[in-house]
Amino acid sequence: MTVDWPALRTAAADVAGRAYAPYSRLRVGAAGLTGDGRIVTGCNVENASFGLTLCAECGLVSALHAGPPGKEGSAGQEGQAAGRQDAAWAVPRLVAVAVVAGDGGPLLPCGRCRQLLLEAGGPALLVDTAKGPVTLAELLPAAFDGADLSARREYGN
Ligand code: THU
Repeated sequence: MTVDWPALRTAAADVAGRAYAPYSRLRVGAAGLTGDGRIVTGCNVENASFGLTLCAECGLVSALHAGPPGKEGSAGQEGQAAGRQDAAWAVPRLVAVAVVAGDGGPLLPCGRCRQLLLEAGGPALLVDTAKGPVTLAELLPAAFDGADLSARREYGN
């Protein structure tokens, strides 16, 4: 599907304006395009107990799950590759994500958020960078995912 990157970047910049980041003073906004054409967003939310900080991508992934299940009606290929074979866990998948700082420029997702995005969009997820969109596989090579759980857990399969 075609990705309207300017619209995605604008949505990310808008939500960055609603971030709560009084400690780091780095506002972050994330916007994702779902497989059924919706845009979901999230912003970072900090806390006086610094370690509790929620990254913008956490809010985005939560909004993805909180929204409608989407037209795919299943977790899709990526979800299944990640080990979510139970249709009860069907969620819309992400196909493209833009993360921007308060200055409007692109920001690369932190390592934890790359792992979160993998579960929500799979390795083919497109992520915006200063040099343009790249696949998540490029940002998080040789990733651990749900398939590793299925293959390696010792009992209860
Ligand atoms: N931050 C995000 O929201 N996403 C990232 O991928 C990197 C970091 C936020 C967390 C914290 O509020 C601030 O940026 C500084 O680390």
